Amino acid sequence: MPGEPLLVAESLARGFGEGEGRLELFSALSLTLGAGEAVAIVGPSGCGKSSLLHLLAGLDRPDAGRVLVDGKDWASLAPEPKARWRGEAVGFVFQMHHLLPELTAEENVALPLLLAGVADSAARAQARELLARVGLVRQATSLPRILSGGERQRVAIARAVVRRPRLLLCDEPTGSLDAAHAADVLDLLLGTARERAGALLLVTHDPGVAARCGTVLTLSSGGLVPA
Ligand SMILES: Nc1ncnc2c1ncn2[C@@H]1O[C@H](COP(=O)(O)OP(=O)(O)O)[C@@H](O)[C@H]1O
Ligand SMILES: [Mg+2]
Repeated sequence: MPGEPLLVAESLARGFGEGEGRLELFSALSLTLGAGEAVAIVGPSGCGKSSLLHLLAGLDRPDAGRVLVDGKDWASLAPEPKARWRGEAVGFVFQMHHLLPELTAEENVALPLLLAGVADSAARAQARELLARVGLVRQATSLPRILSGGERQRVAIARAVVRRPRLLLCDEPTGSLDAAHAADVLDLLLGTARERAGALLLVTHDPGVAARCGTVLTLSSGGLVPA
């Protein structure tokens, strides 16, 4: 709906383990992301940044609180509609990339389009275009295992934006990239978010990347606070 925030997280709590060994990451975290917003989340390793992104993408369930994307509560969706909605609305860049090892770079990027019913030739053409955009023309037919870490990261970014999702959630998307590639990838992520009046939320340790987002928030046990 117009005017409605793209992402709403209300009073999220998440921790792991039981009893004395329990680790409480955050207990009342709230966040609202409107159309056109770009937000960077920073914080020390292990503070829960990846865990938070997984909750926001509906890949994990909070212990308390709820997450709505474009007004839809992840908890209200059965597994299949949930997967469909995620595929349509959310582009996710995993910290560990999670490319499918038996598919080429081009096939990895084309896959979300194929799953959405786009014809193979059109899907591959769009995948090649995006791979060119991130500087990977020559690597289109390579399997992930022969790519460098930075090349794999750029394939994962191309895959996340290929369906032009309105919400982009990116876990250290430039962590394996040099400054020039990082700037280029950030242009692509910001451009994709802008194109559909979408929003970008990324986790980063790079102050230069954070500075290009309008808002920088630090994750702590108290939730998200201005950095
Ligand atoms: N599934 C899990 N089970 C138990 N502990 C977990 C799980 N996922 C993450 N953790 C722990 O939660 C903490 C935060 O992890 P993570 O969200 O990956 O942090 P960050 O991304 O900020 O480095 C870490 O101590 C990690 O070991
Ligand atoms: Mg992490």
